Amino acid sequence: MRNAVVIVLAAGTGERLGLDTPKALLPLGGRPILARAVSAALASPAVGLVVVTAPPGSEDLAHAIVEPLGAHAVVTGGATRHASVGAALAAVPDEAPIVVCHDAARALASPRLFADVLDALPGWDGVVPAVGVPDTVKRVRGEVVVGTEPRQELVLAQTPQAFVASALRDAHARALDADLEFTDDAAALEWAGYRIRVIPGEPGNFKITTAEDLERAEHALVETAHG
Ligand code: CTP
Ligand code: MG
Repeated sequence: MRNAVVIVLAAGTGERLGLDTPKALLPLGGRPILARAVSAALASPAVGLVVVTAPPGSEDLAHAIVEPLGAHAVVTGGATRHASVGAALAAVPDEAPIVVCHDAARALASPRLFADVLDALPGWDGVVPAVGVPDTVKRVRGEVVVGTEPRQELVLAQTPQAFVASALRDAHARALDADLEFTDDAAALEWAGYRIRVIPGEPGNFKITTAEDLERAEHALVETAHG
């Protein structure tokens, strides 16, 4: 098998984290965030290759981190996440039927979640893992509350997200032409009219964005080690 390619997006600077080192290269529980994301991807039996987008200037370091883990390619990321996906897609072999997009910043995604999104793909153009919204969500304009969203229809999208490669390439190119930037890859396919399936995500698979998130991830790893 091993016919799926995983794009691990790791080229961001981590501005909201506010450290000098790019976020994906920082250690988490003694291992770089990037190493954790790539290991989880390669642990899934359907995954044959991982393409990493490295922060410009940190390509060698990214390569050194992922080299011992298995089949990989490192490309230089772009100025935006969308541009980084484009750079990675150019390095995905043309014949690869399935591409999974994963944010390195979700370093705690389990290998199981990669298998789950791939298992759920047949019959669909894409699969997104997501978790429910625990809070009541208000729509506001300035300080005026203008409505309350039906919570049961809302979910919080995670990565890894699995796609039929041709659909991802098409949606990505069309979004680029239309000058549209989406915050995840599924959104580009939704906009392009493709059918995306949602499956249960993992509560522990939060995105490391702030210093508090990094601390929370460190704690989660300690709990797992003792649990
Ligand atoms: N990413 C990327 N290329 C970019 C921007 C982001 O590959 N030009 C990646 C990041 O490395 C991250 C994922 O996309 O794994 C999600 O982005 P985010 O969490 O926003 O990370 P950063 O952009 O690094 O953080 P910030 O927005 O705080 O700078
Ligand atoms: Mg960002």
